[in-house]
Amino acid sequence: MVKKKTASLRVATSDDIEVSTYLELAKESRGEQAVLESGEPPGKRETIIIIDFGSQYSMLIARRVRECHVYCEIVPHNTPWEKIASLNPRGIILSGGPHSVYEQGAPLPLPYVYEKHLPVLGVCYGMQAIAYQLGGEVVSGAKREYGHAVLHINALENPLFAGLPSSLPVWMSHGDEVTTMPPAFGALAYTENSPLAVIGNGKNIFGLQFHPEVSHTPQGKTILQNFVYRACGCKGEWTPESVISESVNKIRGQVGEGRVVCALSGGVDSAVAATLVDRAIGNKLTCIFINNGLLRREEPERVLDTFKRNLKMDIVYVDATDSFLKRLRGVTDPEAKRRLIGNEFIRIFEKEAAKMGKVDFLAQGTLYPDVIESTSTETSAAVKIKSHHNVGGLPSKMKFILIEPLRYLFKDEVREVGLMLGLPEEMIWRQPFPGPGLAIRVIGEVTRERLETLRAADWVVMNEIKKAKLYRELWQSFAVLTDVRSVGVMGDFRTYGYLVAFRAITSDDAMTADWARLPHDLLARVSDRIINEVPGVNRVVYDITSKPPSTIEWE
Ligand code: XMP
Repeated sequence: MVKKKTASLRVATSDDIEVSTYLELAKESRGEQAVLESGEPPGKRETIIIIDFGSQYSMLIARRVRECHVYCEIVPHNTPWEKIASLNPRGIILSGGPHSVYEQGAPLPLPYVYEKHLPVLGVCYGMQAIAYQLGGEVVSGAKREYGHAVLHINALENPLFAGLPSSLPVWMSHGDEVTTMPPAFGALAYTENSPLAVIGNGKNIFGLQFHPEVSHTPQGKTILQNFVYRACGCKGEWTPESVISESVNKIRGQVGEGRVVCALSGGVDSAVAATLVDRAIGNKLTCIFINNGLLRREEPERVLDTFKRNLKMDIVYVDATDSFLKRLRGVTDPEAKRRLIGNEFIRIFEKEAAKMGKVDFLAQGTLYPDVIESTSTETSAAVKIKSHHNVGGLPSKMKFILIEPLRYLFKDEVREVGLMLGLPEEMIWRQPFPGPGLAIRVIGEVTRERLETLRAADWVVMNEIKKAKLYRELWQSFAVLTDVRSVGVMGDFRTYGYLVAFRAITSDDAMTADWARLPHDLLARVSDRIINEVPGVNRVVYDITSKPPSTIEWE
């Protein structure tokens, strides 16, 4: 059924562009932006703008672009040109999305996408939006095309396909399709079901019906790389070194003579954030490390050692074990534990910060996925599963200006920056550890004794996983002390001990996770050692549930 039509926006495209090569086009666009839009020279950093139409894959597009050492930002579809211009754009990628272009109120690119003569790449819905707005035709396909397809390229000379063979596997996921191209566009490639799988106007605008960003399109990265290097003229100068020097300069400018405080958790994010701030302003930064008594064996010592000795940072160490454990006494409800630990953390942090006199700034290790998630309207109606407590999520009452040097970085980029800053590998590759610590891995009441039992079991897990060289491969691996007791026999005696669960998962982002298929002999070693080395435990089970339906942590 043909639903669509009426091109709501018909802007001139190819006809009013005189230049003939992609590089010239890109240069022209940069010049125009510098003079006309901001009146000031553009920043040095070349940026690709990803306009998000609600795709689940926008973040993946960003990852792929950044793998080309080109900085990019994801912005909502209605972002005004002034904001885009301030980012020094070299090209625009229009993401996919769940809508149909002909739907009432469907999000569509704003006119500047075509009027500024920047190179534009539309992906799936992004391609349909281009076709729809520039005078082509989009229809609802007879059935949704989902899965693998083979792309046959009929314009191999096009710079978008440089280095590619004439046919390659691609991943399709679309219901609508472009049936008529806008004027001046040509078909560059096809698949069995999509005669217009890739279109282009011969100059600066391209559309891909498939998803180049997903791993099921193995050569998709080459296509995106061709777009950013060849069509947009990017040089790929965005590296950990450039991130460090830019951040350091920015923090210096921001802080001036002010004072900065930073809460360290022992994790990589707060460590890298603190190290960047330290490099920028040295002793105007004070780090606070609160030991909540819920950390793993030897963890407080290792964190302190790294920061004090290796990095020579000014650290206030607070051993608040007693006050956390006092508050947790008798508490068994997971959400109550989380709330209580979060509040106690803020109380202690505020008390310590107040002792430091006037502090103007709070540095925290917020990452790009958190920023995207918190600005996404799509997720705001989501049901709350757990109230996460992060050392960064501080403090509501105090009036700090935030410094978030990792705000535009993904986790793996943070790791690269951390390595470049000289942080020890052990810290860089530490598996994620939740803010409420072992309290949410001790099921039921948290006591000193039960924490010690869990620490001993967790030590065995860590030790065996590291020996098996699986530590980095796994997203997380840990032990949980349950409140279940069962009967066992040791020697000639009956035992009635606790059950420990062993959990090891693989994941890309913790949003979903799969239980790790660990070798049986490794499972056996972990079980044997826990039973032998941890008093009070007589049974070990391996958790074989994925997320969803489970979550990673048990509470
Ligand atoms: P769940 O259990 O929700 O965990 O599947 C997802 C990821 O988040 C970690 N996690 C936390 N991290 N503060 C944190 O900083 C928290 O309160 C918290 N709760 C869970 C968890 O370890 C996993 O990586």
